Amino acid sequence: MRIRRTRPALAAGLVAASLALAACSNGGSADPTSSAPAGDDDAAAQTEVEVFTWWASGSEKLGLDALVAVFDEQHPNVEFVNGAVAGGAGSAAKDLLQSRLQANDPPDTFQAHAGAELTDYINAGQVEDVADLYVEFGLRDAFPADLVDRLTVDGKIYSIPSNIHRANVVWANPTVISESGLDPEASYASLDEWFEALDKVQDAGFTALSVATTWTQVHLLETILLAELGPEAYNGLWDGSTDWASAEVTAALEAFEKAMSYTNTDRDGLDWPDATQQVMDGQAAFNVMGDWAVAAFEEAGKAEGTDYIYFPVPGTHGVFDFLADSFTLPVGAPHPDGAKAWLETVGSLEGQVAFNKAKGSIPARTDADPTEFSPYQQTAITSFAEDTIVSSLAHGAATPIAWLNAISDATSKFTTGGGDLATFQAELVAAAAG
Ligand code: GAL
Repeated sequence: MRIRRTRPALAAGLVAASLALAACSNGGSADPTSSAPAGDDDAAAQTEVEVFTWWASGSEKLGLDALVAVFDEQHPNVEFVNGAVAGGAGSAAKDLLQSRLQANDPPDTFQAHAGAELTDYINAGQVEDVADLYVEFGLRDAFPADLVDRLTVDGKIYSIPSNIHRANVVWANPTVISESGLDPEASYASLDEWFEALDKVQDAGFTALSVATTWTQVHLLETILLAELGPEAYNGLWDGSTDWASAEVTAALEAFEKAMSYTNTDRDGLDWPDATQQVMDGQAAFNVMGDWAVAAFEEAGKAEGTDYIYFPVPGTHGVFDFLADSFTLPVGAPHPDGAKAWLETVGSLEGQVAFNKAKGSIPARTDADPTEFSPYQQTAITSFAEDTIVSSLAHGAATPIAWLNAISDATSKFTTGGGDLATFQAELVAAAAG
C-alpha cells in the first residue's frame, strides 16, 4: 500500500502566520521526506510532487483530496506530498511561499491566483512557461480565452487553472431570517434595502452578518465597493480610472463601515469556516463569502433551501466577482516530472470534475457537463457565462500582492479602531499610488 506523505505542516489557525515566518527564518527548508513513515512501502514510486496550497483542512482539504484521488489513478508512480499551509485565502501560505522561493527552496508546484497575483511570480522570474504542456495535454482550447489571457504574459502561459470561484455571494440561514420577522425569500435590490433587514436581525438578537479575520473583511469590502460603484467604476479602481479619493469611494467606505457594524465582535480571531459555521449554527443570519462556502454547507450535510440559501451580494446582481486558482511549475522545482504529472491531472476533465464537485467552484474547462454539478454550481456556471465578469481583490485577480497587502493593513487598522474613515480612505489612496 502506498502511504501518502505530508510535508511537515504548520500549525493551523491564525498563529500560522507568525509560525510560518519563524519557519522561514530557519531557512524554511524542512526536509520534505522527513515525515515519511518508517517502512513506507513506497518502492514503486519513481518520483514525487510536493503540492503547495492553502487547502489544509475541512471542505477545502476534501476538494484537494478529490483531486489527489484522480492524480493517484492517473499517475500511480508519482507520490503526492502535501505541502498545504493553513490559513484561508493563503493568508499564511503566500508569505511562506515567498520566503521559500527567495531561498531557492520552491515546492514542485504551487497554487496561485490567475491575474495580477500570478503576474507577480512571473515578473520575479519564479515560474516557468508551461505553454508546451498546453500543447502536450491538449489544453489549448479547453479553457475560456480570457482566462488563459490572465495566465499569459508576452505570449507565454505560466500556469494551469483548476477552477473558477465566485466571490460575491451571500450565504444565509432561512430559519434565523424567519425568526427575525423577515421573509427568507425576500430579495434585496440594494445594500440599503439589505441593511434594513440586517437591522431587524440584530434587533432579534442574532448576529446579522458574520465575518472573520482581516482577509474576509477585505473580501466583504470588495463586494461592497462593487455594489456601490458598479462594475465599471469598480474595475477602474484597479486601472487608475476611478479615483480612490472620490466622493463615490467615500460613500462605499461608509457602506462598508455600516456593514461592519452588523458583524460579530470575535471576528479577528476567526477564519472563514468559523464565520460560515455561525450561519450554519443559527447564530448569524448572513455571511458574505466566496462559493467555497457551499462545500462547507455540503460537508456538514446541510440542505439547500431549508438549511441555507444564497444570493448575490445586494447591488451586484448580474456581476460575477471572479477568481481562479491555478498551478505553476516553479523555476528550480526539485521534481519537475512530478510537477508535470500534477499539472496534467489539474488540467484534465476528470480532475476538474472531481475537484470542483467537492470544492464548490466550477471547472475552468468549458467541456464539463453542468448536470454533474450541484444546483448552486449550476447557477454559477450560468452566471459565469452571462454576467459581467470583474476581478476579485482579496483573491489575487485584481492587484499585485503588495497592493492587496497595503489594502489589508489599512482595512485591519480601520476595523480594529485604529483610525477614522478619512484616514482609511487616505491609506487606500496611498496604497493605490504604490
Ligand atoms: C481563495 C482560493 C479558494 C479558497 C479560498 C479560501 O483564495 O482561491 O480556492 O481556498 O481562498 O481559503
